[in-house]
Amino acid sequence: MIEVAADVFFLQTANTSYWFARTEHGHLEHLHYGPLLSPQHSSALQVKRTIELGSSVVYAPGDTAYSLDAVPLEYSGIGQGDYRLSPVEVFTEFGTDTDFTYRSHRILPGTVPAVGLPTADGGAGVETLEVTLADEVAGLELVLLYTVFPEVDVITRRTILRNTGDSPAEIVKLASLQLDLPDRGFTVRSFDGGWIHEAHAHDRPLSPGVFSIGSTTGASSNRHNPGTLLLARDADDDHGWVYGVNLVYSGNHATSFERDAHGSVRVLSGIHPQAFRWILAPGEGFEAPEAVLAFSAEGVNGLSDRMHRFVREHVTPRAHRDVERPVVYNSWEAAFFDIDEKRLLGLAKQAAKLGVELFVIDDGWFAGRADDTAALGDYAVDAKKFPAGLGAFVNKVGKLGMACGIWVEPEMVSENSELFRAHPEWMLRVPGKTPREGRHQQVLDLCNPAVRDYLVEQLGALIDDNGFGYVKWDMNRHIAAAYSPHVPHPGMTAHAYMLGLYDVIARVFGPRPEVLLEMCSSGGNRFDLGMLRYAAMIWTSDDTDPIERLSIQGGIAQLYPPSVISAHVSASPHQQTLRDTPLSTRFNVAAFGCLGYEYDLDFLTAEEKREITEQIAFYKEHRRTFQFGRFRRIPSGTEHRVIWQVGEGDAAIVGNFQRGVRAAPERDILPVAGLHPDAVYRVDAKPQRLMLERLGALVNHVSPVKLDPGGLVMNVVRKHKSLPDAVESYRGTGALLAVGIRLEMQFAGTGHTPALRMLGDFGSTLYTVVREDTP
Ligand code: DGJ
Repeated sequence: MIEVAADVFFLQTANTSYWFARTEHGHLEHLHYGPLLSPQHSSALQVKRTIELGSSVVYAPGDTAYSLDAVPLEYSGIGQGDYRLSPVEVFTEFGTDTDFTYRSHRILPGTVPAVGLPTADGGAGVETLEVTLADEVAGLELVLLYTVFPEVDVITRRTILRNTGDSPAEIVKLASLQLDLPDRGFTVRSFDGGWIHEAHAHDRPLSPGVFSIGSTTGASSNRHNPGTLLLARDADDDHGWVYGVNLVYSGNHATSFERDAHGSVRVLSGIHPQAFRWILAPGEGFEAPEAVLAFSAEGVNGLSDRMHRFVREHVTPRAHRDVERPVVYNSWEAAFFDIDEKRLLGLAKQAAKLGVELFVIDDGWFAGRADDTAALGDYAVDAKKFPAGLGAFVNKVGKLGMACGIWVEPEMVSENSELFRAHPEWMLRVPGKTPREGRHQQVLDLCNPAVRDYLVEQLGALIDDNGFGYVKWDMNRHIAAAYSPHVPHPGMTAHAYMLGLYDVIARVFGPRPEVLLEMCSSGGNRFDLGMLRYAAMIWTSDDTDPIERLSIQGGIAQLYPPSVISAHVSASPHQQTLRDTPLSTRFNVAAFGCLGYEYDLDFLTAEEKREITEQIAFYKEHRRTFQFGRFRRIPSGTEHRVIWQVGEGDAAIVGNFQRGVRAAPERDILPVAGLHPDAVYRVDAKPQRLMLERLGALVNHVSPVKLDPGGLVMNVVRKHKSLPDAVESYRGTGALLAVGIRLEMQFAGTGHTPALRMLGDFGSTLYTVVREDTP
């Protein structure tokens, strides 16, 4: 709900309020963002301007206490006395001096879509407040858009700058969002990393000065996700005030947090200003990407829940919004480039028997693609690998009861390709300089309309001619030479590239809404809300080691829901870490996302096949809870144990993961959150197998005959026999389970019973929690 009364703007969601007021000099003063307040008595929230402070610049003669440096502002300028970082830097005839003051406002139903940029989708009760400010001397008009999503407790913000003067203006910086908050002992949490270690959460207490994260790689990047959190003093997973900021954008971005000398914190978020320029001819406007804000008074889990519901209900593509994602088999880690119809069909037959629903042909299917040095940009199928064509393969997979999907990397070109030979001018490069390669490939110039048309045509034909129901869209290098002759100023290239990319994706998938699009960029190099406006899920990381994934998925899930987190089970020891982990743990972690397998199925033992078949059946049975249930991190009290929960109310699933074993392990407690306090629940460990090789020589304690643990007989036995693992069952009321179940003991070398928890290093268990009494 949006209300405007006596120059105060009240933006209300179900549980939060965002207020600001027009000051007597026409600036917008931020009053409050936090818990829901009834829209009255706002003056107590105004910053008191009682006296003039030394060394401050006074805005208006006769009002000596009015210094912009001390006013929490909705959007500041430069040169008027506010010396904090400005959200806007635009050169006009008189330099960068800007003073934006109120002109008008209106309330519009629904959202206001941006031109060429993805923005969140509307829904019940959604409204937008449009406030127009202006600096008439500079010849600039600034439009602030606030869209209120009441049911999910999210407010989005956008900024549009228009040139109302007579000469061109040059934008250097235009933040999507400025948020000035009183410092509440804030800690900034960012999600950082790199290839195969994306989205690790890092906390830093704010202190005087500026802390910023961002990306200049041309993508939202695996270095710093655009989403960040601000935790007030003493906030934790379940308590305290937490703010979340994110961007609906996939390119270069920057978010800064500035703590000033007066106890105020300024958050700015938007396109990264490095090397950015946008030329505005008279009459033209520029739209900054949409920024997303959420607040929770119930800790990080409360904040995550709001962001998750926003993504599920207002971001992901409508055709897939509430639709369960299929169980995927992907050829990459099984075969890499060494694929052909025979090999893939062999894998597909086995995958179908295990219960897989979607078979994906990854890299290596097009002519000339024997490795990563050639053929990107070309779309002709390799006739030696697929003599009957891709369509015939799709049909064969269909007869096995699975849909079929295909991998593409449309933004790239190999210099050794038919496309490059025909159009060497189609790639991004700085004239006269050697173009720098990454993974032996160059980036196509998506600012060029001819390139975009080529991609739209090729991708459309690939999908339609062969009947693909799914596309994995990859992007495997950063942008280096961001120069295109197709934009009026070189500083426009990086953003124009993003507009070009969104244009291609919209033109390919807009007319084919039923096609499931999974985004990927060497794993999670472009995991953002911009991509999620088109893609129902994103490949989270090339790292499928479940222990690494506890940090990667554990980080990304603070901002994005499990229904968009693509997570696969792969071979062990792991191909990047050499870590040897139980098959049960690989599944137990991947199940907290969109499940897939990426595995050479030829090497599976009979016992592993049985285990995977049961895993997939279990996942399908609980898929709605895994993908769409409320996700929480449950505090375990120690670093070496991670607890995740999905679902609440009548049913939930809890995962207990052990990063590393300790001798004579502690007595673990497993709390379950969000249940009805008086209802009675049954808690059962999901049955899983303890593979005999995990026991080594200990196998002789359970074997009727003595076995050489490294011998031939053992090698045969282990393929067909295993021990039941995690035979545990508990019962209690919701209130009791919230206190925590005292779990069965862990293995300590002194005996074995079926209920003993054989976790060791990297062991884990899933528990189903089901209400027993009739509601
Ligand atoms: C990088 C992706 O992240 C992988 O999953 C795989 O698709 C390869 N590219 C293929 O080249």
